[in-house]
Amino acid sequence: MLPILTPRLLVREFLVEDVPALEALVADPRVREHAPLESRALDAARRAGRAPRNPRRTWELAVVVRRSGRLIGACDLALTGPRDADLGYMLARRHWGHGYGTEVARALVELGFGSLRLRRISAIVAIENERSRRVLENAGLRWEGLTRRHVRALGRSWDCHRYAIERAGWLRLPALRRGARRTIMRGEDE
Ligand SMILES: CC(C)(COP(=O)(O)OP(=O)(O)OC[C@H]1O[C@@H](n2cnc3c(N)ncnc32)[C@H](O)[C@@H]1OP(=O)(O)O)[C@@H](O)C(=O)NCCC(=O)NCCS
Repeated sequence: MLPILTPRLLVREFLVEDVPALEALVADPRVREHAPLESRALDAARRAGRAPRNPRRTWELAVVVRRSGRLIGACDLALTGPRDADLGYMLARRHWGHGYGTEVARALVELGFGSLRLRRISAIVAIENERSRRVLENAGLRWEGLTRRHVRALGRSWDCHRYAIERAGWLRLPALRRGARRTIMRGEDE
């Protein structure tokens, strides 16, 4: 099941060695500008090597550029029901705009509907977060609605869009958009 190889990325379990790079990433205010919730990635990296809870309910994973071996982000799938999960991701600012976000989201969707046999995958995105909305749409998720004041964080309320994809919808996607291994590459920065 893991690691997942995409054309340019490796999505794998965290190692304790990932902690410093992840601390820097999480501390960047530009990364958190439209993603106010505290990331669970850092906790997961600090616990790296320990056995996950059984049965496992969250997959907090590292995003690494295959060519350089450099950690550039984190992503996760978290069960919200027996066969439903939420997905999330974040990348270091200097790596935005190269299609990596799309590559990660497609890998998570493939993990969810493939090995994890999920029925439905959802995501919540702040209304200002246009990049993330595009990433979700690129991965086949559809807009389902807007929730006013969905969450309170960083001293204010956040209006959020809800996106989701059902397994049947994913299977109907053209192969080009479905597979994490087939993806649009928009230049590389490493
Ligand atoms: C969201 C994030 C992962 C996107 O990563 P990325 O590697 O830049 O994503 P991609 O390159 O695959 O795609 C970005 C899309 O946004 C579009 N985009 C870029 N800048 C944009 C802007 N200012 N406004 C609207 N769309 C924009 C791109 O054109 C692209 O869409 P397209 O494929 O339809 O052309 C990254 O910005 C990030 O880590 N942000 C901080 C954390 C975060 O917001 N996480 C999501 C929480 S829901």
